[in-house]
Amino acid sequence: MYLSREEEGIYQGEQGETLRRMMEILVALGDIYGAEKLVPVRSVQIAGVSYKNIGEAGLEWISDLQGKVMVPSILNPAGMDLCRWKEMGIGEEFARKQQQTIEAYRKLGVTIDCTCTPYQIYDGLAAKGDHLAWSESSAVSYANSVIGACTNREGGPSALAAALVGKTALYGYHLDENRLPTHLVEVRADLRGSDYGALGFLVGRIVKDGVPFFRLPGRRPAPDELKALGAAMAASGSVALYYVENVTPKPPGPWRVEEKIGFDRKEIDEVYAKYPGSGADVVALGCPHCSAEELEKIAGLLRGEKVQKELWVCTARKIADLHPHLVAAIEESGAQVFCDTCMVVSPATERFGKMMVNSGKALVYLPGLAGVQAGLGSLEECIDVALGGR
Ligand code: F3S
Repeated sequence: MYLSREEEGIYQGEQGETLRRMMEILVALGDIYGAEKLVPVRSVQIAGVSYKNIGEAGLEWISDLQGKVMVPSILNPAGMDLCRWKEMGIGEEFARKQQQTIEAYRKLGVTIDCTCTPYQIYDGLAAKGDHLAWSESSAVSYANSVIGACTNREGGPSALAAALVGKTALYGYHLDENRLPTHLVEVRADLRGSDYGALGFLVGRIVKDGVPFFRLPGRRPAPDELKALGAAMAASGSVALYYVENVTPKPPGPWRVEEKIGFDRKEIDEVYAKYPGSGADVVALGCPHCSAEELEKIAGLLRGEKVQKELWVCTARKIADLHPHLVAAIEESGAQVFCDTCMVVSPATERFGKMMVNSGKALVYLPGLAGVQAGLGSLEECIDVALGGR
């Protein structure tokens, strides 16, 4: 891989041991994937934040690094709400380790926003055509597909390396040739809300790491629905980029698909039937993290009633801080709005037997990563279950 004189100097350790190690990671990845050179990134989103996932080895690795990030860099969800962790049932020892992890990132100049939806809280992190180094799979999918920026799905160390160097290796989704559709997906059903998660759940399993191009009838999907679609496909497959005809930015050139697939209402409904919410002891919303619009819908559905089951609502702290009236309206029902964390990366959910969600991504990840069974329903059904309706 070509390195400029300055990059070569960093690689040789002229700017210190941390940058030398970070450059080593970027060059190793570039060599593996055949990158010609490095490219500057506009922003970085770093996974590897929950102490549940990184453990002591990860904490030591981050704490050992020196210097400051070169570009705006923010974090993925942590293992707990950084303020209300006791209410989540998190123990003192875990909380101490999690806070140390956060402090280690803060020392490196990383902004302490722990969210998988950075695009919901900052406008300046990504625009069409920007190169990024983002980690969290649903955020990667949204950045590539809805915003039209370019990012690979970075691991925690490679994202942090990109943040400290300010660059990433130019390969994969940074190149137009890898951004062409591979599958045409014809949907013959009018979808809304969690249907997009169910559709993504089905499509990801088929296209795996392909690039689906959707033809959707009916009304234009809302940003939250695109967020749900991409998140589910990234979990059941490893889709990092998709297109929706007349909705998302267009593919960068002429394309011919390898395969055509179709879905109708019956197949979407079968997902709900196969993963019912019955028997859930908790309901969790906000995978990916809730937008203000979603908080408003939840508050509207709960109005005036008390929950009979635990109801968790996960969002970014900035969203909660900007909309205290929505948080208050939700919590009046007995539900809890947790920030900085989520039902999958927090160890607090491991005490539950079955969780009802409205997210295709959580449906995939909860059993494997949290050891919790999951059922899928619409937002309205989830609220109904939390209120003891069925
Ligand atoms: Fe976000 Fe956690 Fe879901 S990181 S996408 S809420 S699994």
